Amino acid sequence: MTRVLVTGAGGQIGRETVDAFSGHEVIAADHGTLDVADRDAVLQAITSTAPDAVVHAGAWTAVDACEGDPDRAFQVNALGTRHVAEAARRVGAWLCYLSTDYVFDGTKPEPYVEWDAPNPVSVYGRTKLGGEYEITGPDATIVRTSWVCGLHGNNMVKTILRLAQEHEKLAFVDDQRGQPSFADDLAPMIRRLVIERRPGVFHVTNQGAVSWFEFARTVLDAAGLDPDRVRPISTADLDPPRPAPRPANSVLDNAALRLDGLPLLPHYREPLERLVRHLRS
Ligand SMILES: NC(=O)c1ccc[n+]([C@@H]2O[C@H](COP(=O)([O-])OP(=O)(O)OC[C@H]3O[C@@H](n4cnc5c(N)ncnc54)[C@H](OP(=O)(O)O)[C@@H]3O)[C@@H](O)[C@H]2O)c1
Repeated sequence: MTRVLVTGAGGQIGRETVDAFSGHEVIAADHGTLDVADRDAVLQAITSTAPDAVVHAGAWTAVDACEGDPDRAFQVNALGTRHVAEAARRVGAWLCYLSTDYVFDGTKPEPYVEWDAPNPVSVYGRTKLGGEYEITGPDATIVRTSWVCGLHGNNMVKTILRLAQEHEKLAFVDDQRGQPSFADDLAPMIRRLVIERRPGVFHVTNQGAVSWFEFARTVLDAAGLDPDRVRPISTADLDPPRPAPRPANSVLDNAALRLDGLPLLPHYREPLERLVRHLRS
């Protein structure tokens, strides 16, 4: 049995990770319980409980808000990770850090592998890469994921379904591509990588690369609505423009999983249909 402490335990991935470790001893540290920007609090929480592993899912994930407040974004996402890494080292805990497709600039025409050079274009991406730089020891896994959706918290599936209730016609950008990832598929893989003590960077996403336009169509289709209600626009058409730039291509090749002979997560349609069924029941 592993004793695992989860930061950001109230978030989309945090909640599913807590569930995925059922059968183990889980210390669920949500933002209210543990602010990772507070070094003393992090050291106290982790040294007093001495977990075998820490899954660090806490982060300031509001990409556009981060753009307007870089200091806060670095404090939470980069410095906060320094605190968690320091505390994990002190107790000899395995560390799993959640990172993002937004560490890449999106100019590569093909999917990004784990060994491609990061070059974030947003403050959020820079701060999350800063967090990666804090993971210095060999006893750690970095899980980069993308376009996270799930039952808990706000995400694009919920936004698309809400907009479809409010408006007859919808518009989504067709020039940003990525791989939607569902928290209830991600969490069991996070558990596996932690339990098996797999070091290094792993891209972990559901399969199936789409633009937001294509994804919105699939969400409507899964909900039994007419996908033709969605029309494509370009990022330049967004009015007002969003404060933070996004990479045009943030498709993550799950190369490390694949080449290590580990199973890939299923195509995103499978968890999408499960989620839509759940939300509408
Ligand atoms: N969402 C995505 O599309 C996506 C994509 C790639 C990678 N990731 C990464 O995956 C991880 C989990 O993200 P998620 O999708 O689960 O996002 P989420 O639902 O926003 O969860 C993040 C959690 O972190 C908490 N948090 C914020 N500031 C904190 C602080 N100072 N100390 C401790 N906790 C704090 C938040 O609490 P409050 O809400 O109460 O502030 C929230 O519960 C993050 O590291 C994120 O960067 C997310």
